[in-house]
Amino acid sequence: MLVTKTINWGIIGLGSIANSFAKDLALVPNAHLKGVASRTKKKAKEFAKEHHAEKAYGSYEKLFKDASIDIIYIATPHDSHAALSIAAMKAGKAVLCEKPLAVNAKQVKKMIKTAKKQKVFMMEAFWSKFNPSVKQCIDLAKSGRIGEVNYVNADFCFYKDAPAESRMFNLDLAGGSLLDVGVYPVFLAYSIFGKPEKILATARFHETGADIQTAAILKYKQGIANVFCGFVSESDTVAKIYGTKGRIYIDSRWHEAQSYRIVDGPNSNHNQEIVVKPTRGKGFFYEIQECMQCLQEGKLESEEWSHKNSLELMKIVDEIREQCGLKYPFE
Ligand SMILES: NC(=O)c1ccc[n+]([C@@H]2O[C@H](COP(=O)([O-])OP(=O)(O)OC[C@H]3O[C@@H](n4cnc5c(N)ncnc54)[C@H](OP(=O)(O)O)[C@@H]3O)[C@@H](O)[C@H]2O)c1
Repeated sequence: MLVTKTINWGIIGLGSIANSFAKDLALVPNAHLKGVASRTKKKAKEFAKEHHAEKAYGSYEKLFKDASIDIIYIATPHDSHAALSIAAMKAGKAVLCEKPLAVNAKQVKKMIKTAKKQKVFMMEAFWSKFNPSVKQCIDLAKSGRIGEVNYVNADFCFYKDAPAESRMFNLDLAGGSLLDVGVYPVFLAYSIFGKPEKILATARFHETGADIQTAAILKYKQGIANVFCGFVSESDTVAKIYGTKGRIYIDSRWHEAQSYRIVDGPNSNHNQEIVVKPTRGKGFFYEIQECMQCLQEGKLESEEWSHKNSLELMKIVDEIREQCGLKYPFE
């Protein structure tokens, strides 16, 4: 369904991803960037000027109180997702919160409870779920196109040289590779196989205690998924889905893919079909559109990426963390 209603957006936490998101927001018909908020007014004003937002606030709370804003995109570090989402929802706002929705399942449950109580829309900004290539590959895998799927191999690593206090390595901000990028391979395994029967996980740590390499094997009745993430090297970032009759490769970087390949037959690379699906903008376009459609239809959650999906994903991540001995200081 086409979005015909103008939806007024607010953005809080004006860092790297907020910038990319604001660029894509400008591409979505009937999306209007009404206001932005930073902890510093000067930054908010600069961001507002660059992205043509009407209002600039020097505090997140002030934006929550702006009656003209319908939905708030939360782009702050992980540790603050739950508290800020809850505060925004209590102020009557719909929320699109960056991944991971919170740092653990307990927080996610609280957020869902608030969304239901306040009767407001809430969605985790799991943009890969709405990426055209990723979406189609998940559908193809489930459709039997490559036979019975029994193995998923997905990684997401990049080399990160940043100070210990940065959000990447700071445990107080729930830094570390699992919550930052590991959630993507876990998401793919979950989207194809569902909840695992058994998890085996291990990690290596930064001097701060944040995980810098995390590996997990997820076992399901119908197969196995091998997921890996890290901050100490680049990885292929090609996601591979294997079935009894073929393979699907989601091309690099698979979480924001522009193409994928299907290989037919168990032992051949010859029968390769390449499908190119360039995203609109960087790819945030689709999750933005999903939120706007839900708001227009009066839905309180997305059917594509529901509260239950976010909670089940978080429970898997909690179990991986538990096995790695990874706890945040505020837990
Ligand atoms: N979907 C994706 O592809 C993608 C990619 C990267 C990151 N992310 C997610 O987006 C979120 C933000 O990541 P980012 O890379 O944009 O981070 P970033 O560049 O560090 O920006 C985060 C912003 O949060 C605000 N903030 C609030 N409390 C803070 C604190 N204690 N320390 C530092 N900043 C604080 C700051 O904005 P103000 O100064 O304006 O208040 C800061 O600029 C994370 O949840 C991350 O997982 C998603």
